[in-house]
Amino acid sequence: MVTYRSFFYPMHLALLCVGENFMPIAWWTPVSKQPFRFLLAIDRQNHTLTLLRQLGEAALAFPAWQDRAWVVRAGYLSGKRTAKAQKLGVTLRPACRLTHTFVPEGALAVFELQVQEQASDGDHALFLGEVLHVQGSAQAKSAPILFLGFRDFAALSSERWRFRP
Ligand SMILES: Cc1cc2nc3c(=O)[nH]c(=O)nc-3n(C[C@H](O)[C@H](O)[C@H](O)COP(=O)(O)O)c2cc1C
Repeated sequence: MVTYRSFFYPMHLALLCVGENFMPIAWWTPVSKQPFRFLLAIDRQNHTLTLLRQLGEAALAFPAWQDRAWVVRAGYLSGKRTAKAQKLGVTLRPACRLTHTFVPEGALAVFELQVQEQASDGDHALFLGEVLHVQGSAQAKSAPILFLGFRDFAALSSERWRFRP
């Protein structure tokens, strides 16, 4: 078996909100346009895993670069012991199409998901999320939090290039 190495970073950091709890998540990816679906990898130690199994829903939110401090700090706290929104001073609002889940005010984009666990024996549990509601705009691309690994983060550079076939 090969040792894990993180040479595939940077990853675009998102915030996974389940119920009134939230955690930063780097291991997420879109996997289908029609139907619109995301895949989420959740460490089996995380309280979020229990909540996903209990509630069957989540919101994948994209906070702006300016919110990086509280977003990352949420990854060093557990919702099992801490009401993170209160502790971090984050204002939440109810999701539009979910029953139990709250999302941070001011996120650049929010994808509300109905989630189903997929069989997997890795150290991360896998959840397929069917998108029920989307909020956001193309502007959301402008200020992502890029996770470089360990405790390092970067903003998007201003350099652009359009491929013309
Ligand atoms: C930058 C960053 C990225 C993270 N990415 C993931 C991830 O992709 N999957 C995961 O399960 N945990 C990830 N974590 C860890 C969780 O956010 C962290 O364990 C959190 O405290 C779990 O909170 P909970 O116990 O309330 O669920 C990440 C943490 C940080 C700081």
